[in-house]
Amino acid sequence: MKIYRAHDYKDMSRKAANIISAQIIMKPTCVLGLATGSSPIGIYAQLVDWYRKDDLDFSRVKTVNLDEYRGLSADNEQSYRYFMNEHLFSKVNIKNKNIHIPDGSNEDADAECRKYEEIIDTMNGIDLQLLGLGPNGHIGFNEPADCFTRKTHLVDLTESTIEANKRFFEDASQVPRQAYTMGIGTIMKARKILMVVEGEKKAEILKKALTEEVTPRVPASILQLHPDFTLVADDAALSLMNI
Ligand code: GLP
Repeated sequence: MKIYRAHDYKDMSRKAANIISAQIIMKPTCVLGLATGSSPIGIYAQLVDWYRKDDLDFSRVKTVNLDEYRGLSADNEQSYRYFMNEHLFSKVNIKNKNIHIPDGSNEDADAECRKYEEIIDTMNGIDLQLLGLGPNGHIGFNEPADCFTRKTHLVDLTESTIEANKRFFEDASQVPRQAYTMGIGTIMKARKILMVVEGEKKAEILKKALTEEVTPRVPASILQLHPDFTLVADDAALSLMNI
């Protein structure tokens, strides 16, 4: 595990964007696993800036996103597809055919999950997976559970996740109750994993995930077992860790 300390959100975003940028430069045809939430917004802004300066080329990059709310179509402003278009895809030269996000409007969960796993397999897996950390230790939408889930699946969101994510909606009642997410196995197969964590409110769960027992009750704890895992976090998030 490599841990890079950042002073603040901006510094964290630049450091993480540097790592993603290096991946694109070293392998222009790479497959990037991407994440949503507040944590990666600064990274995407930095990557867009470097693209505009002609320092980055997304023309052969392929992407797979971690998750999507079930019941929201791509044109719904609350969908993760919409979020990704807003923050990255519409601002760089990535090809539409190379963008993959679970289709939240597909009611057939089994078919959607199977299709998504096949897409990732066909691309020969993920080179670099970006992750945020949920307040309850979730990664993607893999909520605390009795066992780790291997593949892309449909999840029932926990009350704490609905509560944490309601800030993007009018109120909690608008937050979808289910989502499609890559499984823990899908995420762990990525060749590199990069997690970004910011703020004091995540300090306790971050410490738990990375320094205590590996358990599906804290899904992110599995990252301790990944052979190429990098964390970029700010001082506040690292404040309870002895590093
Ligand atoms: C959502 C996403 C996760 C993300 C998490 C943390 O639940 N499904 O992929 O990591 O939020 O979000 P934030 O970065 O806003 O704290």
